Amino acid sequence: SLLFVETPFCSDKWFSTFNTLASLLEHMYIFNDLSGSVSLAWVGDGTGVILALTTFQVPFFMIRIGQSKLYRSENYGKTFQDVTSLINNTFIRSEYGIAISPENSGKVILTGDVSGGHGSRIFVSDGFGKSFTRRDLPFIPMMQITYNPADSKVLMVVSTNNELWLSEDFGSKWKNVQKLVCLVKCCDFFFFFFLSGERGMLELRRTTDFGKTVKTVASKIYSFGLGGRFLFASGTLRAIHVSVDHGDTWNMAQLPPVGHEQFYSILAANDEMVFMHVDEPGDTGFGTIYVSDDRGTVYSKSLERHLYTTTGGDTDFTNVTSLRGVFITSVLAEDKSVQSVVSFDQGGEWVPLRKPANSKCDATAKDPNKCSLHIHAAYSTAMKLNVPMLPLSEPNAVGLILAHGSVGDAISVMRPDVYVSDDGGYTWIKALSGPHHYAILDSGGLLVAVEHSPNQAVNQIKFSTDEGQCWGVYNFTDDPIYFTGLASEPGARSMNVSIWGYRDSLINEYWISITIDFRDLLTRDCEDKDYVQWLAHSNDISDPNDGCILGYKEKFLRLRKDSVCWNGRDYQVTTQPTTCLCTLDDFLCDFGYYRQENSSVCVEQPDLEGKVLEFCLHGKEEQLQTTGYRKIPGDKCKGGAMPERKEIDLSKRCVSDLVSPELVVESHSSKSIPIVLSVIIIMLLSVTASVIFVKKYVCGGRLVFLVHRYSVLQQHVEDNAVDGMDDPLETNHTQNGKIEFHDDSDEDLLE
Ligand SMILES: *[C@@H]1O[C@H](CO)[C@@H](O)[C@H](O)[C@H]1NC(C)=O
Ligand SMILES: *[C@@H]1O[C@H](CO)[C@@H](O)[C@H](O)[C@H]1NC(C)=O
Ligand SMILES: *[C@@H]1O[C@H](CO)[C@@H](O)[C@H](O)[C@H]1NC(C)=O
Ligand SMILES: *[C@@H]1O[C@H](CO)[C@@H](O)[C@H](O)[C@H]1NC(C)=O
Ligand SMILES: *[C@@H]1O[C@H](CO)[C@@H](O)[C@H](O)[C@H]1NC(C)=O
Repeated sequence: SLLFVETPFCSDKWFSTFNTLASLLEHMYIFNDLSGSVSLAWVGDGTGVILALTTFQVPFFMIRIGQSKLYRSENYGKTFQDVTSLINNTFIRSEYGIAISPENSGKVILTGDVSGGHGSRIFVSDGFGKSFTRRDLPFIPMMQITYNPADSKVLMVVSTNNELWLSEDFGSKWKNVQKLVCLVKCCDFFFFFFLSGERGMLELRRTTDFGKTVKTVASKIYSFGLGGRFLFASGTLRAIHVSVDHGDTWNMAQLPPVGHEQFYSILAANDEMVFMHVDEPGDTGFGTIYVSDDRGTVYSKSLERHLYTTTGGDTDFTNVTSLRGVFITSVLAEDKSVQSVVSFDQGGEWVPLRKPANSKCDATAKDPNKCSLHIHAAYSTAMKLNVPMLPLSEPNAVGLILAHGSVGDAISVMRPDVYVSDDGGYTWIKALSGPHHYAILDSGGLLVAVEHSPNQAVNQIKFSTDEGQCWGVYNFTDDPIYFTGLASEPGARSMNVSIWGYRDSLINEYWISITIDFRDLLTRDCEDKDYVQWLAHSNDISDPNDGCILGYKEKFLRLRKDSVCWNGRDYQVTTQPTTCLCTLDDFLCDFGYYRQENSSVCVEQPDLEGKVLEFCLHGKEEQLQTTGYRKIPGDKCKGGAMPERKEIDLSKRCVSDLVSPELVVESHSSKSIPIVLSVIIIMLLSVTASVIFVKKYVCGGRLVFLVHRYSVLQQHVEDNAVDGMDDPLETNHTQNGKIEFHDDSDEDLLE
């Protein structure tokens, strides 16, 4: 039952390989259940354990009446067992009901909803959900219960009455650590939280010993955020301060000050650097991206007119995790059209995406032969365009990107197609016509896709073994289903993919999942001869200067496109990095220096008076010693053109009419006076949780203007750390029979 999609890239060899294929084996599981939504969670990595929670909820006067059923699979979704009795038929909330421990220890927490009363109930398992123990809580959680990533027995949650509760024994005893908590973020073993207070008087506090002692690290804060090892706080002057030692010392970030209607947002961050968006004054819908140095204090302008809506907080900013240094986002052009741009060097330079060879410019193009590819991301989803999925890339599928897009001078509102890049975004092909759900399996060795057609039942899955050039079609059933989403184990190593949907007849309506094991298709294990060397960021492997990004180049072993084989679960990306010679472009200009247009040389800013006063005041001494250049974070270049320049002490040039030298000295010596501002706190491992949490955010009402968005990047970091963490596939089945597939956004909008 195989058909073929004709694309110009299908080789004869491909046809002969798959023509002989008789049939794949599919496993259908029918749920005797017509609930409104299904959430899926993978427990552990490579265990094959999936929990499926179906919830049905109707508002009934002031209370919600709900019903949950719990199913468990031990074979990647091929069969499920109804284990609702393990939770004693308790209603589990679909929004933040399932919390899976970060380190594959097999811990699961289900949060129940007990209507009325002052307490609630959870069910905990430390054996991959095989059995559950009931625990009654003396409070009602307002967010998903969060595991401490350093010790998953330690749990944290904020209650509906804004108290912070901790448990050190996996939920059996709970301790109220702090009242009046608005938000909590926790990193390895620090918990940060912020308290409510008068407008502009919020305090940022931290505890490192599960609440026995609490230290105020900043006061009079508007808001705060965490990204990588950087802790940011914004204060009454709307200036942003940054700390890299969990709040012990603060420095002023050299970013433009913003007015009260503007916001800052952390687009992406790792331990080396931060991408920061600074909103433009007025309700323009755009702002400027800045990239930080390794201290988080000095920023270089990266991209202007960056699209970021003030109202919805939507941005297309995407870290392409399959190739180092690549980011894609959108700009708002002068004519108000939205256009995609890509950077291959961590924000150094942004360019339009190249037009795919096998596509034509659409009506948005002035010149029918000259146009570029535009990618649909979060903004298009927010605009309710017919875009079922965000761009997809996986760290173990080197160079691969799948995304919806259109080809022209700007993003088109017409029906998008699916485009694939196999080299990290340099070149693209049009892979599938029309919107699709897609997934990466077997570390990129296999791609699967199902057409998105909300009102029409489907029975076909498409697959590609050559990175999207050629697609086979397989009829997975004779009796089509209303498709709601594809589900495969997070991490893209699986060969099993489940197609979720429902069937609908006059008398009956039920959930159905069909799991296909593509091991039946790719039966051969890949051997050495199936791999080929590939130099990233290069089109000429013989040129010694080609492929250098951030001071080094990397050769990867990649699967040959025409190899039809199985990478395997243990497949590791192998790379051979070699360092490159430095050029001035491997450096950014330090505080007090800038680049003139079209020049790589950093020249002294004539005068630091006024606007940089606070940097002078609070800058640590070593930060004011500079040669004007500073290595770009993460840059590993050696030798070559190292800028030679005497180190000077900038603090001598910090002059201001406002502050006398004595005062400056004084504030240097009193480092313990916290800076201020206040706000928030808590790190949520689950995206779903952060959305919910934020909606209920009460402290200070609309005081907080700072938007902290933990980007896709950050999320990926977390996902990796917590492989198999819940990645709930939320499928809402609305009253009128229409199915909507929700892909939760990573919104964490504090306002
Ligand atoms: C596969 O399904 C399509 C309809 O979706 C049908 O037209 C086609 O004949 C089927 N092919 C086979 C081999 O059953
Ligand atoms: C299950 O629920 C029933 C009725 O609400 C209750 O009597 C029983 O104790 C519960 N069992 C457990 C194990 O919680
Ligand atoms: C982008 O993603 C990669 C791969 O997950 C990660 O290593 C890197 O730190 C991310 N970059 C930023 C700036 O967040
Ligand atoms: C697919 O599922 C089967 C169990 O049904 C499991 O044995 C196999 O390891 C899974 N394959 C992958 C690559 O995860
Ligand atoms: C910088 O280079 C661009 C393109 O090469 C050119 O259009 C522009 O005029 C140059 N600017 C200056 C100040 O030289």
